[in-house]
Amino acid sequence: MSRLIVVSNRVSVPKAMGAAGAQGGLAVALSAALREHRGIWFGWSGKETETFTGHLDMQRNCDVTTATIDLEPQDIDEYYNGYANRTLWPLFHYRIDLTEYDRSFDEGYERVNARFADSVAPLIEPEDLVWVHDYHLLPLGSMLREKGVTNRIGMFLHIPWPPTRLFVSLPNHEQLVASMLHYDLIGFQTEEWLDSFTHYVKKEMGLPVADDGTIEYQGRQILARAFPIGIDYEEFTEGARSAEAREAHDRLKSSVRGRKMLIGVDRLDYSKGLGERFDSFGRFLTDNPDMAKDVVLLQIAPPSRENVASYQQIRHDLERKAGHINGAHADVAWVPIRYVNRGYRRTELAGFYRAADIALVTPLRDGMNLVAKEYVAAQDPEDPGVLILSQFAGAALQLTDAVLVNPHSTEEVSDAIERSLRMPLEERRRRHQALLNSIREEDVVDWREAFVATLQGKRTTEPSHA
Ligand code: G6P
Repeated sequence: MSRLIVVSNRVSVPKAMGAAGAQGGLAVALSAALREHRGIWFGWSGKETETFTGHLDMQRNCDVTTATIDLEPQDIDEYYNGYANRTLWPLFHYRIDLTEYDRSFDEGYERVNARFADSVAPLIEPEDLVWVHDYHLLPLGSMLREKGVTNRIGMFLHIPWPPTRLFVSLPNHEQLVASMLHYDLIGFQTEEWLDSFTHYVKKEMGLPVADDGTIEYQGRQILARAFPIGIDYEEFTEGARSAEAREAHDRLKSSVRGRKMLIGVDRLDYSKGLGERFDSFGRFLTDNPDMAKDVVLLQIAPPSRENVASYQQIRHDLERKAGHINGAHADVAWVPIRYVNRGYRRTELAGFYRAADIALVTPLRDGMNLVAKEYVAAQDPEDPGVLILSQFAGAALQLTDAVLVNPHSTEEVSDAIERSLRMPLEERRRRHQALLNSIREEDVVDWREAFVATLQGKRTTEPSHA
């Protein structure tokens, strides 16, 4: 079996489900793949150093070898806060209004990708498979090729790929895509993002794309495919049965005192539609005075990317909105929105999910969304809760038995809340069973096996210095 070299911006090896951090499920999945294939997980340590040294910190954690480098402040500013999170993230989530273009970001992005390439290339052995993750590292494959790496290299994008008409607003858009055409395999979460990518390649670059997703470019063949990511069903349901999950469930259940509970769990990010969600819930309270005092919304939103202004703004807006709705509707012994800015261990979250009658997963745009899948997996099949899911999450293409909504319409989401609260047990069970089947059938183990097998099946790409 080939060794696997995983490269991502962040590296986090969870010791056990209870210890998993923000990356949760994916970190678990990738470490499982690395354990099986041996290999190395390379990325940024998340730490800052005064001047970049390139020092590689190698560690062994729970059978996984990690190799990390520290970055200097200018790198973090221009590459992570800049190009990755002020340019690509908003643009790829269709938020051209929040997208910032700055040449220093481009330079920082190139520089850090080159630093990644310099550090990771010497670790790669001839038979290794290299698997690069996400929008922080789109040009890394081309930089590895320049260093003479001829191994099979795959890239998986965890976020959407935007429509061509939006994408072309990126200065140097063609250069960025051309740099991606040095991978052997490019994976997307859904057919929708894949179609946007191949549309660009055909229409803007004039390249032929075969029906199976093979792109011909400068004598090379690149395969572009959708690989919808799933959760680790076994691992998650085992965690959901743990004493810690039960304790979290009981604690939360008793605190709501027999009221119905809605839950949302999201990084504090404008793509998650939290403002629209609060507005919809506020509207539900106004439109349904008979039910209003019997429901609570628990919104867990750990802060994210706090040095980026648009994230500071959304945090401010949400505090105001939650305060406003609570002020307008609360009673001495009841507050409608519990808004919590911290993260929880995944076992605790599993308990919270099971305690909630409804999950509100209403992003305005999301590559996939694993909270939707984890919520379903955590339910009691005899008395399951209802998943209200945005039609704009990648997960909506698979989870068609959820209550699908347009998150921009506060009326539609408010109606969906009412309908879900009144939904008969039989319908809840039927929907839950169908959702569960889909989540079990395409879990994260299938995802990584399909990606790795497809990458392995490809012939080696010749080095190119084009
Ligand atoms: C998204 C991205 C990941 C990223 C995560 C957390 O899920 O696709 O690549 O790691 O958000 O964001 P952060 O900026 O904290 O790494």
